[in-house]
Amino acid sequence: MYEQVSHSLLNAILDDLKPEIRRQDLRHFYTRLGANFYAIYSLFFRLYGHRPDFKRQMLGLVETMAEGYINRSPELEALDIAREKDHNWFLSQQWVGMALYTNGFARNLRDLADKTEYFQELGVNMIHVMPILKCPIGKSDGGYAVSDFRQIDDRVGDLEDLQHLASELRQRQILLVLDIVMNHTSDEHTWARKAVAGDPIYQDYYYMYESRDIPDLFERSMPEVFPESSPGNFTWNEETQRWVMTVFHDYQWDLNYSNPEVFIEMLGVVLFWANNGVDIMRLDAVAFLWKEIGTDCQNERNAHLLLQLMKDCCQATAPGVLFIAEAIVAPVEVIKYFGEDAISAKECEIAYNATFMALLWDAVATQNARLLTRGLRSLPNKLDRATWLNYLRCHDDIGFGFDDQDVLAVGYQPRSHRRFLTDFFCGEFEGSPSRGLPFMRNEVTGDARICGSLASLAGLEKAMQEENPVAINIAISRILMLHSLIFSFGGIPLLYNGDALGLLNDYSYQQDPAKVSDNRWVHRPSIDWQHAERRHQSGTVENRLFTALRRMIAIRKSLDAFADFNNRELLDTGNEHLLCFLRSYQQRPSEQVLVVANFHSTPQALPVDVLRRRGLDFTAPLIDVFTGRRPHQIEENILLQSYQFYWLKQV
Ligand code: GLC
Ligand code: GLC
Repeated sequence: MYEQVSHSLLNAILDDLKPEIRRQDLRHFYTRLGANFYAIYSLFFRLYGHRPDFKRQMLGLVETMAEGYINRSPELEALDIAREKDHNWFLSQQWVGMALYTNGFARNLRDLADKTEYFQELGVNMIHVMPILKCPIGKSDGGYAVSDFRQIDDRVGDLEDLQHLASELRQRQILLVLDIVMNHTSDEHTWARKAVAGDPIYQDYYYMYESRDIPDLFERSMPEVFPESSPGNFTWNEETQRWVMTVFHDYQWDLNYSNPEVFIEMLGVVLFWANNGVDIMRLDAVAFLWKEIGTDCQNERNAHLLLQLMKDCCQATAPGVLFIAEAIVAPVEVIKYFGEDAISAKECEIAYNATFMALLWDAVATQNARLLTRGLRSLPNKLDRATWLNYLRCHDDIGFGFDDQDVLAVGYQPRSHRRFLTDFFCGEFEGSPSRGLPFMRNEVTGDARICGSLASLAGLEKAMQEENPVAINIAISRILMLHSLIFSFGGIPLLYNGDALGLLNDYSYQQDPAKVSDNRWVHRPSIDWQHAERRHQSGTVENRLFTALRRMIAIRKSLDAFADFNNRELLDTGNEHLLCFLRSYQQRPSEQVLVVANFHSTPQALPVDVLRRRGLDFTAPLIDVFTGRRPHQIEENILLQSYQFYWLKQV
């Protein structure tokens, strides 16, 4: 949009750019900057317009973008242009992701690059390499306490190793996802060190207070993320005699985004990694970016404005790069990370679908899909050009953060229901097959989350220990059924390291003093590659899981109806144990896929009549595209065994 005030400012900025920038050929950059400048200016003004140095900061912002553009390689720029043309590329069903810790999957980045065949074998083509930036030993929060945003931690390699990995992946058309830990730094980051040394410029990078007055005001309405291991949201710093805001661990200092310098620095970091070949940035803990006294300091309007600004700036420099919002928040809030009041995504193109994840686990525990169906119905529609990351497990705990209204509507009491879920997954509920652990129980709020690997939560650990073949079969069916849903729901499915091999809980963290107080480490295992060879040995658990998942992935990729264009309809089957939805493609009935899954331990029926009433013409014979067989049908009912799923299509 053309608007005079911002345009004359843009002219002034272009005149003031450093000579080394002005001398470059910046045509593509200028067109994009021109297109986004009104938005960039407006957002930057909303956030920082009251400051006397506003124009100087604005110049700094544009210089950072221009420098980023100058450093972009022709190869990456060609990719930008290709993705601009094919702008819906990431909504395709072709993408299947996996998240992993470098040292949980391989020895280091070089070794990871040597293991890309595993991804191809399985069909995975988007790799989220969990944090690899420099961080202190012992005080790292699994890499989320970064002490240098531009340096790879030497425990996994160096920048050259990453560039090598990026190029290996690109050659195989595998996308690389890296974390940008925007919300905080380690207390050993240079900025924090300078702040500690008394430099006021860097003290202004953080929230630091001489007295408890302001911290106390904040605390009144701020919840705690790690109430057991890191209570409170401020930490006393002896050297500076100040309270520092530390929402996560006491060594993770929250960055102060009311200071534009912080934003510009972090934009520089985003562009730096974009230019090193990262396709997608996972923006960590974005809900927490803006702090405001009197609020819970999550999902603040300004947090969204910061993300929109980040997107607009990144588009001018590296438009092919996408953002993932890691905002594990209520459904009505999470949807806003695609960008509010817009038609197509203008904040993050991709967001973790934590609602779906938590609801799936609810259905596992209750053996019914009531809350799951209800919760999915309340999930607001996405914007165009936005998609979900659908997952079952990740490196973090599981919180049962679904909407209380939905919980009540299906007849549960929120507090006791959540208590039941925690007990169930921690194996404390009669008959539960799960082997999870409670995470950060908060006695005051009654809130608790859980940890545990997918396989252990799904009953495999217990079944294997008891050498119970029936229970092993059940656990395998459960694991596959859950995956069948994240593969077909719409969005990018994200597997987690080791889940395709059925890796169980890893209790070795209990021997490590740096990990023992954080039981999320129980589900951050290392793959034993010799053991993983069992995936090629028919009949092993590894083989049964791996081959089924590989097949599911291949079939997913062949079904256009599984692309994500708001082409999903939830169906009411009248049977509360089933989750059922229809995926369609260009309204062609022959391309429709009916997905149905049974969460119950006994066989269940899907009445054909229900489909007929919905106007679905399933007169032609149906086939389950996963097995290639006709579904089991008795007269007017399609039958599903316990924990069975179908992907049904007309033949
Ligand atoms: C994100 C990460 C989590 C980390 C937190 C703080 O939620 O996923 O592992 O503890 O941010 O950085
Ligand atoms: C982040 C995540 C939340 C998780 C926490 C600790 O806040 O959003 O889900 O519980 O980090 O891992």
